[in-house]
Amino acid sequence: MDKQRKLIIAGNWKMNKTVSDAADLVGQLKIDLGKLTELDVVVCPPFTALAEVSRLLRDGTMRVGAQNMSEHSYGAHTGEIAAGMLKDLLVRYVILGHSERRQFQQETDAQVNAKLKTALVAGLKPIVCIGETLAQREANQTESVVGTQLTGSLAGLDAAQMQETVLAYEPVWAIGTGLTATPEQAQHVHAFIRGWIAAKFDDTTARRVRIQYGGSVKPSNARELMSQPDIDGALVGGASIDAHSFIEIVRNSL
Ligand code: 13P
Repeated sequence: MDKQRKLIIAGNWKMNKTVSDAADLVGQLKIDLGKLTELDVVVCPPFTALAEVSRLLRDGTMRVGAQNMSEHSYGAHTGEIAAGMLKDLLVRYVILGHSERRQFQQETDAQVNAKLKTALVAGLKPIVCIGETLAQREANQTESVVGTQLTGSLAGLDAAQMQETVLAYEPVWAIGTGLTATPEQAQHVHAFIRGWIAAKFDDTTARRVRIQYGGSVKPSNARELMSQPDIDGALVGGASIDAHSFIEIVRNSL
């Protein structure tokens, strides 16, 4: 594929898989995807399976991500996980500001921004999620909602930090619903996001930042989505917890 940016396909397993289920899944994925270098493949298991998945993926090209982390580095934060603990498990990526956390844990842009800065300082690669709801799209507010999320979530970053950060455009109405944004709808918002980065930072930074699409990505729609000029990968939910479908999505993206 003729894109300067390396594609990044990540599986967000959400709250699925025990340690032994995770080991089964990763064992299957490794056979087909374990040595790929043309694109980046990342799996994001729940915290409880991170250590085992990380151990199983030590020797290949697949990488491990977490689904969340604390903005604090250590201390009296019961139930939270620090960036340093993730680094300790050789975790490379961390998903931040997923819409489910924004909706159900009331995570705000300010909190996502604090977590993002903590992740960058710790040397983790953040995947920052943004996206509008159906009501917002129908009210023609997609760009203003996404713009506000970008402004708040990415506040205070310098260009180098922006380039380390992966963005994931995940329209809320397309998550887990089977409704995928059309390639044209997704491309339109991705181009808007890249334009926002160019205006806020510079053209080089905008050209380098990878922007994933997420929301009902499946083997049947991956190729067309990934062929859009500003779509640089996928953040896959449901289809990432089935080995066959995740492998097909990666294969169809090559
Ligand atoms: P689905 O692929 O299940 O729609 O989930 C997308 C998602 O939320 C990935 O983070």
